[in-house]
Amino acid sequence: MTTHDDRDHSAVVLRPIEVADADRVHEWASQERACGFQPWGPNTREETGAFVAEAARTWERPEGPRLVWAAASSALGVIGTGELKRNTPSCAEIAYAVHVDYWGRGLGTEIARLLLSIAFADPAVERVQGTCDPRNLASAAVLRRAGLMFEGTLRHTVHLRDGWRDSAMHSILRGGWTHQANQ
Ligand SMILES: CC(C)(COP(=O)(O)OP(=O)(O)OC[C@H]1O[C@@H](n2cnc3c(N)ncnc32)[C@H](O)[C@@H]1OP(=O)(O)O)[C@@H](O)C(=O)NCCC(=O)NCCS
Repeated sequence: MTTHDDRDHSAVVLRPIEVADADRVHEWASQERACGFQPWGPNTREETGAFVAEAARTWERPEGPRLVWAAASSALGVIGTGELKRNTPSCAEIAYAVHVDYWGRGLGTEIARLLLSIAFADPAVERVQGTCDPRNLASAAVLRRAGLMFEGTLRHTVHLRDGWRDSAMHSILRGGWTHQANQ
């Protein structure tokens, strides 16, 4: 699955994440600003290794409820991760992270779009959702730019180091995706 990023002119590819990606993932997972709105991190190298090993194991059951990809470009190597969860047969959920060195180049949006196209390739999927901390304006922008619509705020869904946080729920329906893909 490949796409084109208008702003840095490099192809972004999603491929199954591998244990060997752990050092690269740790470059951002070890940083405070990459996990400020997440219940994990900053990671030790062991924690990142455990996360990547678990993510790689999702490929032992490709038909299972969760799959994790490494996002890579030929110019930059691995620049992030993308994740698809199947909440119900008709509802999938996307999540993503981008290496802190490459924020603001449109890569998060490209990963989100690739995840949507994978999700909607399954005709059973009617709805794809994505959530973020309402304070995570970059993630909210990614969801919006990928075509998801803000639906409302779920209260106290995730416990962070400094207390409970809310989740801004966004979604796109199959009709919206088809319309967008034909533009
Ligand atoms: C969220 C994340 C994936 C965004 O990646 P990215 O490659 O920088 O995303 P993009 O460049 O595609 O888009 C970012 C958008 O957010 C906007 N943005 C960034 N920081 C912002 C801020 N503080 N306030 C408002 N908008 C902001 C950018 O301007 C851009 O929108 P624009 O192109 O319309 O101007 C990245 O910041 C990240 O990995 N964060 C840590 C992990 C995370 O939060 N993942 C999401 C879990 S819900």
